[in-house]
Amino acid sequence: MSESYLNTSLLDELLPENWRSNQKNFKTYTHSKTVAAAARIVAKKSQMEWGRAYTYGLMHDIGKFYVPNSRAYKHPRVGYEILKDTHRDIAEICVTHSFPNIKSFDHIINYCKNDKKEASKILSILETIHLNDYMELIQLCDKVSGLDSYTSIEAKLKWYTETNQINENDIVTVLYRKKLESIKSKFDSLAGTNVYKLLGIDV
Ligand SMILES: [Fe+2]
Repeated sequence: MSESYLNTSLLDELLPENWRSNQKNFKTYTHSKTVAAAARIVAKKSQMEWGRAYTYGLMHDIGKFYVPNSRAYKHPRVGYEILKDTHRDIAEICVTHSFPNIKSFDHIINYCKNDKKEASKILSILETIHLNDYMELIQLCDKVSGLDSYTSIEAKLKWYTETNQINENDIVTVLYRKKLESIKSKFDSLAGTNVYKLLGIDV
């Protein structure tokens, strides 16, 4: 499969001029490249367009550069807004990347730290979108990517629930984990090998 959509400079082109003034942006920048690299590796093995996957991984967190840390939960929608008129497909990657259970308002409201207005805005956008393989690939690669290394869904969720003081057995979290595991299984089969093995993740 060709690399027809590879665009390694789009992120740099769209970053705010002063992005280097905020330390957290360097982490987002590094994480974005880590996600892009994983997406490329898994896409190549899965006979998907690896250039497209790389570009999507690179761009998925663009919204983070435009929101303060305290409002980080707005970044999926903000990324969508930035790109929707020029790159609709990438915009849809941005708004879907945190929501594997695309129609779960409970998950969205948790993610939005109970900001109902933001959650409603996100849901109304998500209702217009059908998840495709590339969106699921980025959901998976984002979840297994740290700053500059890879980890299992289980380990990442453990970190996530502890950091955000969420009960790992609550129904929203259980369904979230199940969906991520099912996406991983799908890519295990598409790639013909275990995605963790491809990314050098010890389990
Ligand atoms: Fe993100």
